[in-house]
Amino acid sequence: MTTFDKTAAAPREDADDSPLVEIEGLTKSFDAVRALQGVDMTIRSGQVTALVGDNGAGKSTLVRCLTGVQSADGGVIRFRGRPVRISSPDAARKLGIETVYQDLGLIEDLQVWQNLFLNRELVRGVPPIRVLDKRRMIRQSAEVLKTLDVAVPNVRATVRRMSGGQRQSVAIARAANWGKTLVIMDEPTAALGVRETAAVEKLIGRLRESGVTVLLISHDMAQVMRVADTAWVLRRGRAVAQRDVKQTSGDELVGLITGAVAGDADG
Ligand SMILES: Nc1ncnc2c1ncn2[C@@H]1O[C@H](COP(=O)(O)OP(=O)(O)OP(=O)(O)O)[C@@H](O)[C@H]1O
Ligand SMILES: [Mg+2]
Repeated sequence: MTTFDKTAAAPREDADDSPLVEIEGLTKSFDAVRALQGVDMTIRSGQVTALVGDNGAGKSTLVRCLTGVQSADGGVIRFRGRPVRISSPDAARKLGIETVYQDLGLIEDLQVWQNLFLNRELVRGVPPIRVLDKRRMIRQSAEVLKTLDVAVPNVRATVRRMSGGQRQSVAIARAANWGKTLVIMDEPTAALGVRETAAVEKLIGRLRESGVTVLLISHDMAQVMRVADTAWVLRRGRAVAQRDVKQTSGDELVGLITGAVAGDADG
């Protein structure tokens, strides 16, 4: 079994270090719970950025603010340098932001290609005579699965019969098909076995190679060390530290998460 090794991957020539997303002073409360207490963080273009933190640190809340599922109470999100209001999932999609949710959002009784085009079906013909362009959706689905080397039997297989890892791969392929800019994954391998986890990590590597920026939420520090370029540590609603993965260790990240190691933004 091989896992994705980003050090072995050739650096992308068009990779730049410019910030894709800059978050400044983001706040979000649920009644008395201050889930985000002024988060400052940056997601660089073409990188895999890990977002780590203990349970309840605010990771999913931050993601929901980026994907328009919830709106922040305050703060600024800049996308490619411009302030944006991500007020709905549709607004996020228009920016090229796609999310793989923890529950995946796949329809069990539909086939792979139908899931890939769910709610965004391709049509052909001239109004008022428009029909679903099934052939094109199947062909495009097959291309996406091939490009990402996704191990599912075929595009006509029904999701219900698939393993957890295959489902996860389909959900990621769907995000990759639409999310041309930023793909966000909230604990994509939490429910997977060793082999399936390795396959998903490979897929993350391929997304990165294809120029997609990835934000990965993970509790698995070994995984962060394997696949991410940068890690941001969230603690009690604040981004307390950022580390270049090459210059940190799983132990240091754990210390930053618990507070045993002081973050740069502590105090
Ligand atoms: N819809 C909500 N209503 C009330 N409180 C919420 C809601 N969503 C999140 N919270 C609270 O906000 C805080 C941050 O939660 P969040 O889900 O963002 O944490 P997390 O870092 O994703 O944790 P985990 O690692 O367990 O997934 C927690 O205290 C949580 O209970
Ligand atoms: Mg969460």
